[in-house]
Amino acid sequence: MSEVRQTEHGRKVAAMFGRIAGWYDFLNHFLSLGQDCYWRYRLARLVKPLKNGLILDLAAGTLDVSVELLRQYPDCRVLAMDFTYQMLHCGKRKKLDGKHEPVRGKHIAAVQADGKIIPLPDNCLDGATISFGIRNILPRAEVYKEILRTLKPGARFCILEFGSGKKRIWKGVYNFYLNKVLPFIGRIISGDSGAYTYLADTIKAFPDERSLGEELRKAGFSRVMFIPLLSGIVYIHVAEKAE
Ligand SMILES: C[S@@+](CC[C@H](N)C(=O)[O-])C[C@H]1O[C@@H](n2cnc3c(N)ncnc32)[C@H](O)[C@@H]1O
Repeated sequence: MSEVRQTEHGRKVAAMFGRIAGWYDFLNHFLSLGQDCYWRYRLARLVKPLKNGLILDLAAGTLDVSVELLRQYPDCRVLAMDFTYQMLHCGKRKKLDGKHEPVRGKHIAAVQADGKIIPLPDNCLDGATISFGIRNILPRAEVYKEILRTLKPGARFCILEFGSGKKRIWKGVYNFYLNKVLPFIGRIISGDSGAYTYLADTIKAFPDERSLGEELRKAGFSRVMFIPLLSGIVYIHVAEKAE
């Protein structure tokens, strides 16, 4: 795949995901105690694509959301876009279930590209998702602009992301887990000392659900709403391109 032009921040993020790509799926399931599969299922349910057309899964990583989208909307095509080649590569053999062929190539096209410059024409998408990706992208406004440009009027943009880690959840148990346990386990297993401290830091720096909703409205989306999952550790945000 060809080199993607990136900012300094983008280069650091891509290099980090490149280093942990091989461990990413295992750590996701392990650190979330398997909850991440349910969160992705709920995210895909909310997309409700306009037609059996094209859905963009931005920051697709190892394709878990892309595969879930295809499972729920088998007549759609899914474009899995990410700027880290190693993450897309790790997802290339994923299947809808044990019996089928790997889905990448057939119904899921993987594209290495930056979400701030989406290589698609205007008004071509029937829906779009970003799961645990928006937190890594700065400035977020550039992604919102590109998603609004490429979505068809009336189509949904669904975001799955952690809530702000500043809120005390479960009397501080979650905050202790986020700040101490998660970076420790992440470092031991993946061998990357920075990646899981980065995870905790970006969660703490991320806006809370109301501020993110406001941000989406300011960017030009309509019918913005959010749904808390697991006591607000994670949120799904849904926003529409106005008709
Ligand atoms: C935490 S992973 C999420 C992967 C997957 N969506 C999931 O739910 O597991 C974040 C992904 O965002 C990608 N990413 C970060 N910034 C990006 C950008 N500007 N454009 C495209 N992908 C980006 C990273 O390469 C990484 O694969």
